[in-house]
Amino acid sequence: YWVVDKQLEQLEDYPQIKEAAKLLQENEVVAFPTETVYGLGANAKSDEAVDKIYQAKGRPSDNPLIVHIAKIEQVDEIAEDISETARSLIAHFWPGPLTLVLKKKANAVSEKVTPGRNTVAVRMPDHPLALALIRRANLPLAAPSANLSGKPSPTLAGHVSDDLSGRVAGILDGGATGVGLESTVLDCTDEIPIILRPGGVTKEQLEEICGKVEIDRALLEEGQAPKAPGMKYKHYAPTAPLYIVNGTLRFMQALIAKKQQEGYRVGVLTTNENEVSYVADAVISCGTLQDLRTVASNLYEALRLFDKRGVDVIYSEDFPSVGIGQAIMNRLEKAAAHKFIYENEGQNE
Ligand code: TXA
Ligand code: MG
Repeated sequence: YWVVDKQLEQLEDYPQIKEAAKLLQENEVVAFPTETVYGLGANAKSDEAVDKIYQAKGRPSDNPLIVHIAKIEQVDEIAEDISETARSLIAHFWPGPLTLVLKKKANAVSEKVTPGRNTVAVRMPDHPLALALIRRANLPLAAPSANLSGKPSPTLAGHVSDDLSGRVAGILDGGATGVGLESTVLDCTDEIPIILRPGGVTKEQLEEICGKVEIDRALLEEGQAPKAPGMKYKHYAPTAPLYIVNGTLRFMQALIAKKQQEGYRVGVLTTNENEVSYVADAVISCGTLQDLRTVASNLYEALRLFDKRGVDVIYSEDFPSVGIGQAIMNRLEKAAAHKFIYENEGQNE
């Protein structure tokens, strides 16, 4: 467990980075911070190393991994037939929270990174520690989020050690991640790019650069198989059942009071603006409605806190599904297993 200040210069030469990089070269798994969430990295070229990722996380091995690189040119070592659209997205958003699904180059990474697929997901993270580590290891790193499968993704090194302590060779601690939700996964293998997972780069931002962008229909309708296999799992869930509540503050407080009368401990996920309005066993604000990026940044930490506070049920406010709100609502809906409560049933659509 190494703490490294991301402001330092020449990070690649720090002993902690060197040691972590050496472990990666020996096909061990190491957790490291990115600007989105902590990742669990391993040598993407090694079957043995990639196997260790699936083992440490308890992740289904049919779910492909993202390959992380530190230089834009590296994308051509891993993918081929990269379209002009994809090139312009790369130029605008890398390094950053955008993952592109591209045609895979044969034998560039282990088959276990892309089980049964002819595509590969690639991203260049915007975090000095991540970039220094990838450069020092001199390897493309396969890295899923560094949580136990099914838990919220880690946004602090402490979350990683809560989940994976003893199951990984090391954890690089660079403090809080920033964006707080995972990267946007964008399929660029067809003419019109398709969002497979909403994330740190919004649909609106993408459309400014490349015109029309579609959203995987499975994200909008039930009963469709998502194109990103990871999206089919119930994810990001705290232990207590979570409900997303659409209604007034009074309606929410009435729900809380009713559950408390029944003897349950109740948690509320809210915002700075509304937190004073509730009386419950745990009232946790994840940010301000004035800037939903703050909500994204703190959402997973808030979900983990409810576990620590030992509540039996959680009610969450809902958020507008625009901009980063799209990714926030996608993660909240998964955490809630799509359980909504509407004050006005008419709004239930
Ligand atoms: O922000 C992030 O993307 C973080 C940090 C660590 O970089 N990583 C992350 O990885 O969230 P993971 O493994 O938790 O999620 C990867 C998602 C999954 O939903 C997976 O199914 C999808 O990307 N994916 C990966 N490769 C794919 C491919 N070739 N085709 C379609 N979907 C793919
Ligand atoms: Mg994940």
